Amino acid sequence: ARAWRGVVEEYRDRLPLTANTPVVTLCEGGTPLVPATRISELTGCEVFLKVEGLNPTGSFKDRGMTMAISKAAEEGAKAVICASTGNTSASAAAYAVRAGMTCAVLVPQGKIAMGKLAQALVHGAKLLQVEGNFDDCLELARKLSIDYPVGLVNSVNPYRLQGQKTASFEVVDALGDAPDVHCLPVGNAGNISAYWMGYTEYAKDGVATRAPRMFGFQASGAAPIVSGEPVPQPRTIATAIRIGNPASWTHAEHARDESGGGISSVTDRQILGAYRMLASQEGVFVELASAASVAGLLQEVAAGRIERGQRVVCTVTGNGLKDPDWALAGASSATSVPVDAHTAATALGLA
Ligand code: F0G
Repeated sequence: ARAWRGVVEEYRDRLPLTANTPVVTLCEGGTPLVPATRISELTGCEVFLKVEGLNPTGSFKDRGMTMAISKAAEEGAKAVICASTGNTSASAAAYAVRAGMTCAVLVPQGKIAMGKLAQALVHGAKLLQVEGNFDDCLELARKLSIDYPVGLVNSVNPYRLQGQKTASFEVVDALGDAPDVHCLPVGNAGNISAYWMGYTEYAKDGVATRAPRMFGFQASGAAPIVSGEPVPQPRTIATAIRIGNPASWTHAEHARDESGGGISSVTDRQILGAYRMLASQEGVFVELASAASVAGLLQEVAAGRIERGQRVVCTVTGNGLKDPDWALAGASSATSVPVDAHTAATALGLA
């Protein structure tokens, strides 16, 4: 056995690299595919969680960022920029450090989780809180990358999706074939597009016998692909997917239609329920947006659109530690005790 080298080296032959591409990596990828016992019981499906919160900066964005920053380095870039609901900026900031680049990030003011803000800052990014939403930030980042010497590393950069497609390679490599169904949250719609690219590539080359049906889930207050029109003022507690005009909209529709899947919405209440269930029944602490995949699976099974007996993978996209406020809300506060065994035992209900 040898150490995992990161997605660029592990899947080099399937990525657009040259011999001269400097590999900027934090050894991302290689994340566990955890059997979800309780959710499997509830749904009658065989459910696995692709736990992307275990990437170096705590989200799936690292798979795309290793590619985007490596290619930017190959092209001689000194600075990169991104718009973000938090995870992309955390990842870009970390990989920019590895590459010796400066990193500028534009985030919607007051609408990103504290942990993500901390990550961008501790890695030394130049951070602007924009008085607007994510869609405004992306438009601004695009403009700046055209008019100034700074490379855009949002998922409109094609290298991002190339890197992110490695997650589906890992799923097939772990299961021996593609699952029947793949569920994931949808925000800017890059990740569902990237997974579909990876699955179809493996199917075409005969590594897998088929590709799964792709099911994407948006928050009901930020569900433009479901309603068919941009949402000017997207609203949801799942700030990571608070997006009203996704950049990869048509790619996502293509993944949905080609695969025979669906893109639906789940309410904030459903997201919160799945978030709590993942933590309390599976032992997996994810961020709110990530729980949309599981909330969506439960909804589709109840509606009969996903049948019992299916093998299902749910991507849980980001680590719960990024946004502990939601874990603390609704939790009972810890009891204080003196250094005394009997009092501690009584407080714990052991005595
Ligand atoms: N889950 C998490 C935790 C995310 O951070 C994102 C997107 C998504 C799901 C949705 O993925 O955009 O590819 O459809 N976060 C971006 C960001 C927008 O800026 O970090 P998507």
